[in-house]
Amino acid sequence: MGYEEAALRRVRELKNQEKVRILALETSCDETAAAVVENGRTILSNVVFSQIDLHELYGGVVPEIASRAHMEACDRVVDQALREAGMTLEETDALAVTRGPGLVGALLTGVNCMKGLAFAAEKPLIGVNHIEGHVSANFLTSPELEPPFLCLVVSGGHSHLVEVTGYGEYRLLGQTRDDAAGEAFDKAARVLGLPYPGGPRIDKLAEEGNPEAFTLPRPKTEGPYDYSFSGLKTAFLNLVHGMEQRGEELPKADLAAVFRRAVCEELTGKAERLLRDRLDRGERPAMALAGGVSANRELRRRAQEMCGRLGVPLYMPRLELCTDNGAMIGAAAYYRLLREEIAGLRLNAEPALRLI
Ligand code: KG4
Ligand code: ZN
Repeated sequence: MGYEEAALRRVRELKNQEKVRILALETSCDETAAAVVENGRTILSNVVFSQIDLHELYGGVVPEIASRAHMEACDRVVDQALREAGMTLEETDALAVTRGPGLVGALLTGVNCMKGLAFAAEKPLIGVNHIEGHVSANFLTSPELEPPFLCLVVSGGHSHLVEVTGYGEYRLLGQTRDDAAGEAFDKAARVLGLPYPGGPRIDKLAEEGNPEAFTLPRPKTEGPYDYSFSGLKTAFLNLVHGMEQRGEELPKADLAAVFRRAVCEELTGKAERLLRDRLDRGERPAMALAGGVSANRELRRRAQEMCGRLGVPLYMPRLELCTDNGAMIGAAAYYRLLREEIAGLRLNAEPALRLI
């Protein structure tokens, strides 16, 4: 029996097994991360090796450096994840890896690493969509959460409002027409001279600033649940450059607070419109946040306030599960495995893979 036939047979057995433990690897951008996750819900280990130090010097992720660093770190991170879970590779039930979207070289490193392990250890392999991973981080933090629910996906590359209609099933309700929220945070941070990655730095600085020190125009979009951040970014750039030209010292904390307020107001404003529309239709929606920007303190506070006011349950990943990690890939993989959606050895990196 060939590898693929054996893998499918194994998956059919696993579907009836009480405990399914998946070893997952994530290498789509600048973290080499591996984890062991049980039944898509319980983290047995979660190891994240961040490359921030390597890219900081360049003010952003350098794809070539990322690929090489993933290659060097993969085996070590996988070994550590197994060790921390108290397991051997043989004892795992299946393997999973991010197949896209992301940097092609970075993705390929992970895909090749896991294909090799899957073939050698004769384990089924699941190729996971990175964005589905972010959404699935909620299953790790909130064991009671089940579809359907609405989800605001906000990362370095995405700003989407989606409806999770079932495990692995999505309906796109709105999306950004230009920049993603994370991208906007990173660019604004650069304008303020803050080091990469900018989002978390703006967030921290903003805690000490006055969000009403300046005003920024609010974005206009066509679709009721669509986003736009490029106008906001340009207005912010002009505000800062104007101050620089006048030789004024930049009130960085205030500027960070003003920008963060504008982005978060936009994010929760559209989410609120969606929730109100659903409530008006007599539905009882639930809301989740996902992606790196869901670590943002103001976004979390605003989402809590909004959902509390509307009487809508809110789910948010624990902070360390908001940004890239292996556990979220293991969680998403479990539900793909239940649908027998496994990858063959022809699995390839898909840098522009979409969720919907
Ligand atoms: O989800 P993620 O780790 O990677 C992608 O899939 O893109 O998201 C990274 C993005 C970066 O743009 C980063 O600046 C932003 O999330 N981010 C934040 C915060 N933490 C991470 N943005 C605002 N506030 C934060 N606390
Ligand atoms: Zn991500």
